[in-house]
Amino acid sequence: MALLELDSVTRRFGGVVALDSVSLAIGEGEIAGLIGPNGAGKTTAFNVVTRLYAPDGGRLSFAGRDLLRVKPHRIVGLGIARTFQNVELFRRMTVLDNVLVGAHSRTGFGGEKEARAEALETLSYLDLAHLARRPATGLPFGTLKRVELARALVSRPRLLLLDEPAGGLNHEEVEELKGLIRRIRQDFSVTVFLVEHHMALVMSVSDRVHVLNFGRKIAEGTPAEVRENPAVVEAYLGA
Ligand SMILES: Nc1ncnc2c1ncn2[C@@H]1O[C@H](COP(=O)(O)OP(=O)(O)OP(=O)(O)O)[C@@H](O)[C@H]1O
Ligand SMILES: [Mg+2]
Repeated sequence: MALLELDSVTRRFGGVVALDSVSLAIGEGEIAGLIGPNGAGKTTAFNVVTRLYAPDGGRLSFAGRDLLRVKPHRIVGLGIARTFQNVELFRRMTVLDNVLVGAHSRTGFGGEKEARAEALETLSYLDLAHLARRPATGLPFGTLKRVELARALVSRPRLLLLDEPAGGLNHEEVEELKGLIRRIRQDFSVTVFLVEHHMALVMSVSDRVHVLNFGRKIAEGTPAEVRENPAVVEAYLGA
């Protein structure tokens, strides 16, 4: 059984069909890539999975549960956590307090000591401990994305959605991110769903890659299969 399954999911915005009957399945423990040109519907897919947007049609399931019956605020508790393409942190709060938001989703507000310990531990894991008391505002974009990753990880998700984690990173940092994503899968026993335009990154870490174009799924396969798929080359990768 797939951990996450989208079955003919459609989502429109006015006249724009952001997702056009998209079906895909991700197995537990997989790193699955989601690629496609700007506006293809990748972020919309994440927004539908995390219940920020309701689909206009289709079905979604997570670990055998109908996601459409789950309220958006229950998504994290169910084991789905994410990062955002454009970073959604509380800018005036410290890095630690931002990560505590993720910890509280698990511990509630009672276990404050435990939550702080876990938040600090997760910050250390991501080499961010030295920034714990700094306000988020003013930190470089790549660092903010990593803080978001900490907030997501501290909720101990079963499925981690990463929307363009390489955004704002230089070449060496992207190289490091490749290893980090693999390590995270291992260390947190998590399934990863990864949106990325950085092809070297997504092709090297993904077990399978799904391709969207104008809201439609045009291909799926191993990175090698997808790279050689003529429809994908034409729509996105280029010659
Ligand atoms: N909240 C919204 N309101 C109106 N239109 C939207 C909204 N969200 C997405 N869209 C539209 O849906 C389509 C898909 O957008 P989406 O952000 O999912 O693309 P994407 O694949 O993530 O692109 P990118 O690679 O640029 O991030 C686009 O045409 C976009 O303008
Ligand atoms: Mg996007």
